[in-house]
Amino acid sequence: MRVVSGIQPTGNLHLGNYLGAIKQWVAMQDAMPEGDDCLFFLADLHALSQPVIPAELNAHTTEMAATLLACGIDPKRAILFNQARVPAHSALHWILGGTARMGWLGRMTQWKDKAGKKGESQSVGLFTYPVLQAADVLLYQATHVPVGEDQKQHLELARDIAVKFNTDYGDTFTLPEPFISKAAPRIMSLRDASAKMSKSDPSDASRINLVDDDDTIASKIRKAKSDADGLPGEVAGLAERPEARNLVTIYAALAGVTPDAVLAQFAGQGFGAFKPALADLAVATLSPIRQRLTALLDDRAAVSAVLADGAARASVLAAPTLAAAQAAVGLQV
Ligand code: TYM
Repeated sequence: MRVVSGIQPTGNLHLGNYLGAIKQWVAMQDAMPEGDDCLFFLADLHALSQPVIPAELNAHTTEMAATLLACGIDPKRAILFNQARVPAHSALHWILGGTARMGWLGRMTQWKDKAGKKGESQSVGLFTYPVLQAADVLLYQATHVPVGEDQKQHLELARDIAVKFNTDYGDTFTLPEPFISKAAPRIMSLRDASAKMSKSDPSDASRINLVDDDDTIASKIRKAKSDADGLPGEVAGLAERPEARNLVTIYAALAGVTPDAVLAQFAGQGFGAFKPALADLAVATLSPIRQRLTALLDDRAAVSAVLADGAARASVLAAPTLAAAQAAVGLQV
């Protein structure tokens, strides 16, 4: 088993990232059998597909690494690094660019959403973004890739690229399986339950950031969109109530129980009772993470040292696959 996943270093991890991805990373790391590897990385190269402020990208990479450590990623049990420190990602990305088809990339919903009608003026990197993501996982012969549902299409593309490469040049890559959180595949915005919770939403009230203080968390939950009805006894009763369903999903994912168990506890109660309980639970989970993060950021050099050490270990694991891919296509290196 080889677990690989990444996150963009935006400096703003939110509850959707935490419940959809990071919580699973920590669980998988903790359950990893001896001799198997978990690799988690900051996708700093992916960040270049949008305009960046260099000093901010640099600082956010350290801060995001510290956040992952604060959430429970343990550099003794998992390999934590930033993509740019392992040049094999870029090298394999270029090779896979010869295999991926324009049509495949053009169908990516994330590209269509972000490019909109302005495709011509977008960066080439935004278009080829999923090819680098394929390189990220194929480079390590990943078997499991824990992600939120929004990344599923990118991973299907990685599989398509692997299948075509293996067919054209001989068996080189393992086909990775997306591993999508059952508890929190898609956490929605607190202001609009038809949009996912996202770092790029202009409204800060739409998301809970991991750095929000206790009062801010409680206030965002108090102001979250809900409805005037009491909670039903079963999840089926939430079908037409997306805001209510999102808040119940968040509660269940934070508590590590099923939504039905949450409803069994709160059936018949309104949001006046449910929201304070949800706020208490969110604060109890996030406050210790925030405290650990503050302590870690007192020594940024130590965090960078963790990343450098992780990159050295990741490079060793990446080398044989990069060499195999280079040889498969006939490159002299
Ligand atoms: P990113 O940085 O947007 O998100 C990191 C992880 O958080 C998940 N996520 C969510 N899950 C549930 N609900 C939400 N509202 C929500 N928002 C975000 C994402 O699904 C993701 O798992 N392209 C990737 C980074 C990447 C990567 C990779 C991932 C680069 N290379 C290789 C896996 C494997 C991204 O931008 O994720």
